[in-house]
Parts: sequence; structure tokens; C-alpha cells
Amino acid sequence: MLSIGGGKGGVGKTFVAANLAVALARHGKRVVAVDCDLEGANLHTSLGVPTPRTSLADFVSQRQDDLGKLVVDTPVQGLRLIAGTHAHLGDAQPNHLRRVRLMRALRRLDADFVIADLGAGTHSSVLDYFLVGGEGLIVLQPEPTSVENAYTFLRAAFYRRMRLAMVGHGVRKLVTEAMDQRNERGIRSPLDLLREIEAIDPQEGARFVETMRAFRPRVIVNGVRTAEDVKLGFAVVSVCRKYFGIEAEYLGYVNNDDAARRSVAARRPVVEGESGSDAAIYLQRIARKLVGREA
Ligand SMILES: Nc1ncnc2c1ncn2[C@@H]1O[C@H](COP(=O)(O)OP(=O)(O)OP(=O)(O)O)[C@@H](O)[C@H]1O
Ligand SMILES: [Mg+2]
Repeated sequence: MLSIGGGKGGVGKTFVAANLAVALARHGKRVVAVDCDLEGANLHTSLGVPTPRTSLADFVSQRQDDLGKLVVDTPVQGLRLIAGTHAHLGDAQPNHLRRVRLMRALRRLDADFVIADLGAGTHSSVLDYFLVGGEGLIVLQPEPTSVENAYTFLRAAFYRRMRLAMVGHGVRKLVTEAMDQRNERGIRSPLDLLREIEAIDPQEGARFVETMRAFRPRVIVNGVRTAEDVKLGFAVVSVCRKYFGIEAEYLGYVNNDDAARRSVAARRPVVEGESGSDAAIYLQRIARKLVGREA
């Protein structure tokens, strides 16, 4: 399962999710694309599926407990969809336990790949979908605002992941304090936090390190125009290593391409409609990487 987030709105999360899903299906994989962005659901449109009557909203509002019943077909063979349409906008977000249940259910779907498209921002529900879903993939664009939000997102996801992994009440409280960048304890980095945790409880310290090692966000740079833009992915990986002590993986980049915009307007994924375009070629390359790793 791949959860696609990234903090900033409009950077191409849905575009990447839709096209990776199609590209993987084209490889003969059985894929389910899931629209977890209930407040801005549009994955179905990107895939050329008219507004489905059933959606993830039925699971969230507990009208339907069987996720399998919410899956609908798409025009692409091997690719199915759980849409995010018809959300009850007054509904509260599902609580943490229900989100974990949802992600477990998603992972149990009968498919080779489940691709989850997340909403913008760092709401705890988005972070949970990113964290408990399997592999988290961040999409960012080569512009300062997007990079800034991607780091904010990574930081929020990192600390949430760490807090969920800690068992003791005191240690959890410490992680919560560390989430405030200007906390009075002077914890400025994950390594500061680790030192404090180890002082309280070495076992929790060991768990912290183990969780840190297992946290491996993937990165895609979308909307690339120059060779300099391509390097952004490596910079993110390097910052992750230096600042968080985690190993992120640069999965690849996608060119800025008018074919991308045209494909959205035509409601036909670019890897389907213009498979020879730059954007499609780079998306297919990333899909091949994912297939190769699965093998
Ligand atoms: N590589 C690209 N080249 C050119 N245009 C692109 C590219 N990727 C995305 N776009 C354009 O950006 C628009 C926004 O993309 P998308 O809806 O996927 O963003 P998003 O991150 O899912 O936004 P939101 O946070 O609102 O869900 C697309 O409709 C498309 O027109
Ligand atoms: Mg989107």
C-alpha cells in the first residue's frame, strides 16, 4: 500500500496517484486506487469515472463496514476505485482507531497495490493515513512554498509516528512537547528528543531508534523544469538524514508538462491518453521501480 501525501495543495498528489495506479495496472497488477480526500474528492474524475454512488464516506460514517462493497470499476483493466464522493461534510473525521481499522481493511483488499490519495495539510487524519497505511510517499514541487510545506508535513508525520510508538505516558508527553518547535525544554531536533528519552527510559529510547529506522518516506518531485529542480529530491533525502536521522528514498521526478494539464481536462490519465509524453514516461519509470521492488 502506498499513501500519497505532501502537505501543500495542488502539487499533483492526485495526478501522481491516478497515473501510478494506471501505470501499475498496465503492468498487469491488480490495483485499487482509494480517494482518502473526502473533503476534496476528485480522484474519480482524474480516472474518468463518473461520480460513483458508493464511496469511502460510507465506511467512515459506518453505513458500510465491508470495504470490498465500495469498490467500483474504472475504464482501465485491472484498476478499480474506492471514491471519496458524497461525504457528509458535517461528519466528524473518524477517530484514530477507526482510521487504523480503515487502513487495515484497505491492506486486506484483494489487490497487488493499493494507492491512497490523501488531502492537503497536516490534519491528524491525513498523517494517520500516511503513517499507518504502509509506505508513505510525498509529492512536492520545486518551489519554496511547496518545499516548506513538505518539511512541515514530514516533521508532523515524524513526531506523530514517534508518539504512537512510545508506550510510557511520560515519554509520550515528552514527544508532544518536542512537537512545539519553541518548547521550553530546549528540544530542537529528534536527536535532542532521543537523548531526553534515553535519560528517562533506555528501553523507550531503543524503541525510538527502531521506529526511526523503519520510517522511510518516499519522495517524488513533480513539475520539474530544470536539472536543478531534479536535485531537489536529493536535497530532501539529505535533510531527512541530517535533521531527522531517517533514510528517505527519492523515487523519481515528473516533468512539468502541458500533457498533464490536458489529461486532467480530458479526464484521461496521461499514461493512457498521451503515453509518449514526458510526464507519462517519468511516471511509468516510477511505476516500473515499484513493480521491480515488489518482485
Ligand atoms: N507534472 C505536471 N505538469 C503540469 N501540470 C501538472 C503536473 N502535475 C499536476 N499538474 C496540474 O496541477 C493540477 C493540480 O494537481 P492535483 O489535483 O493532482 O494536485 P493535488 O496535490 O492533488 O491537489 P489537492 O491538494 O487540492 O488535492 C492538475 O490538475 C494539473 O493540471
Ligand atoms: Mg488531490
